[in-house]
Amino acid sequence: MNSPRAPRRAARLILALSVGLGLGLGAGALAQSTGAVAPRTYAVKDKDGTSLPAYTIPDDTAIFRHPDAEAILYGQRLLNETRRLLPDHVGAAMNCSSCHVMQGKKPLGAPFINTYNSFPQVNPRAGREMTLEERINGCMIRSMNGKKLPADSREMQAMVAYMKWLAQDVPHGARVQIKNGSPIDMDLVPDPARGRAIYGRQCASCHGADGEGRKDARGHIVFPPLWGGESFNIGAGLARTYKAAAFIYDNMPMGVHTDGAWGEGRTLSQQDAVDVAEFFTHMPRPDFPLKDKDWPSGKKPKDARY
Ligand code: HEC
Ligand code: HEC
Repeated sequence: MNSPRAPRRAARLILALSVGLGLGLGAGALAQSTGAVAPRTYAVKDKDGTSLPAYTIPDDTAIFRHPDAEAILYGQRLLNETRRLLPDHVGAAMNCSSCHVMQGKKPLGAPFINTYNSFPQVNPRAGREMTLEERINGCMIRSMNGKKLPADSREMQAMVAYMKWLAQDVPHGARVQIKNGSPIDMDLVPDPARGRAIYGRQCASCHGADGEGRKDARGHIVFPPLWGGESFNIGAGLARTYKAAAFIYDNMPMGVHTDGAWGEGRTLSQQDAVDVAEFFTHMPRPDFPLKDKDWPSGKKPKDARY
């Protein structure tokens, strides 16, 4: 039920199976240790650059002591089990935590650590200022290929409560000094044929030969799909080659090390990540009906899909 566990257990299982059967997930990358333990405490800087007290990624057990515990826990559950709990609003076989690693607690894994404190925010894709609720709905209609939640609904407010809790005491406008993803060199030219081969070797064991992902016996998502009718639509950030490459470079494949949040890690070069991203993002996936409204003031990024 708690996201890091299930996929991690699954990853370990796949790892064990791969070793046992001699299949091998990555070229000689199995069960290496990177030797690095990710820090939990990070510096915080205010808007004007002054240092503020450090931030520590909070432990889930701290939620129970919080006066708003019920909403925070429900919000966290919604991130982990979005499809199961919101079947009328989610079109993809995807949960928020499929991309926002460990419910947004992992730097470089599309974290929510700075999210609550950085909204409202001007969104270039929309060409206007957005509230946090509107931004969440952006992922609902694109990444989840679903429908918006009312801003004042219990579900929306629970997710906001969770993000607020995750920000801890960091004041509005200040930033915890983490990166949401690695910068990827946008001059790298993608080679989708090479990407297809990498996919077969390093990704298909979990995400399926046809990118369809994998569900458990009850139909719950174990490995999310990478393309096809149950994946994110072309309006999603991850449908863009270089955004997908950043996610993959930092977080995939998982289960290739014995440490890290889920044994993930730097076994792909940036070129590998760009190639495999170009390959899978351009496989068939749902359309985004509101695409004509995006980037109303121009400045479309070069990897935009429309
Ligand atoms: C297919 C992957 C994917 C899924 C699933 C997904 N997101 Fe996102 N989300 C992203 C990416 C990628 C970004 C960052 C986009 C960017 O860099 O512009 C993002 C950005 C966000 C942001 C803005 C964060 C910030 O600090 O600026 C919020 C809030 C958010 N997502 C919430 C959600 C919620 C809630 C769900 C589930 C209902 C969800 N997302 C599902 C990929 C996803
Ligand atoms: C050992 C299993 C495993 C391997 C190998 C693996 N992944 Fe994943 N991947 C996962 C899991 C599990 C998640 C969702 C994480 C969660 O739910 O907490 C995920 C999420 C993703 C996502 C975001 C969600 C989505 O469906 O779009 C992308 C993109 C992705 N993986 C790409 C790749 C690529 C590319 C490779 C190969 C280079 C790869 N993965 C290898 C298990 C794996």
